[in-house]
Amino acid sequence: MLVPMPGLLEGKRILVTGVLTDDSLAYAVAALAQKEGAEVVLTGAGRGLSLTRRVARHLPEPPDVLELDVTVPEHLEVVRSDLERRWGALDGVLHSIGFAPPACLGGNFLDAGWDDVKVALEISAYSLKHLAAGFRDLLRAAGTASVVGLDFDATVAWPGYDWMGVAKAALESTCRYLARDLGADRIRVNLVAAGPVKTMAAKSIPGFSAFEDAWDGRAPLGWSVTDPEPVARACVALLSDWFPATTGEMVHVDGGFHAVGV
Ligand SMILES: NC(=O)c1ccc[n+]([C@@H]2O[C@H](COP(=O)([O-])OP(=O)(O)OC[C@H]3O[C@@H](n4cnc5c(N)ncnc54)[C@H](O)[C@@H]3O)[C@@H](O)[C@H]2O)c1
Repeated sequence: MLVPMPGLLEGKRILVTGVLTDDSLAYAVAALAQKEGAEVVLTGAGRGLSLTRRVARHLPEPPDVLELDVTVPEHLEVVRSDLERRWGALDGVLHSIGFAPPACLGGNFLDAGWDDVKVALEISAYSLKHLAAGFRDLLRAAGTASVVGLDFDATVAWPGYDWMGVAKAALESTCRYLARDLGADRIRVNLVAAGPVKTMAAKSIPGFSAFEDAWDGRAPLGWSVTDPEPVARACVALLSDWFPATTGEMVHVDGGFHAVGV
């Protein structure tokens, strides 16, 4: 008799932020994580919260949705207490959060003011520290744990991406410092640098369609802007026990685009 293989995340308790629509990268991660055996709780923020609640019902096992706006410190404390009561420990967190005010995007790099830039940095970069530090005791209680964030490679300047690119550079650096400071607690912190995928966040970046058009032709493996599955697979793998000695890393899931010139 064939015994079914256990899923990659069998028995793992995973918090998934960033599900807004069923196109969200986080939605694909949550669906795959459940398929691989994880128990999942989602978080949603602000005006998008009701949307997250609605979209959660489309997942294979409709999960609970908790409110977590990363700019509201009390939200994190309430979510932490809920997870402590629910699970007592946390095996993984997906950070899939990004936002920049319109002034920060679309070619106005020299004109964007600090009031806008600081919002982009807080929500898109500092929030990785906010989550990792806020859930540290629950992650430590799991024995080994994994924090995974979604990145858009910030080692170069992109057209239109502007201060979001700077925020992503800060996210990449934050990932390395968190890896340094949380390694002793057996908490790994890594990023997946994804190629362009058509989501709400992507649509809000003026000129993003130029990346989408260029990517498939240049990426050695090709690229589909409507397929979040490769990104979800990498996130699930990093959340699993299959990268036990990897932390502070940025894994490109971009069809190989980053590795080639013109
Ligand atoms: N779509 C792409 O092409 C692409 C490529 C590389 C990286 N990423 C990154 O993936 C992540 C997810 O984006 P997506 O493309 O799935 O788009 P999305 O619009 O579906 O998700 C963005 C999420 O950020 C959340 N968010 C915004 N402000 C928040 C706040 N104050 N507190 C908590 N959550 C907040 C939104 O609620 C939303 O769920 C982002 O970090 C994005 O930069 C996207």
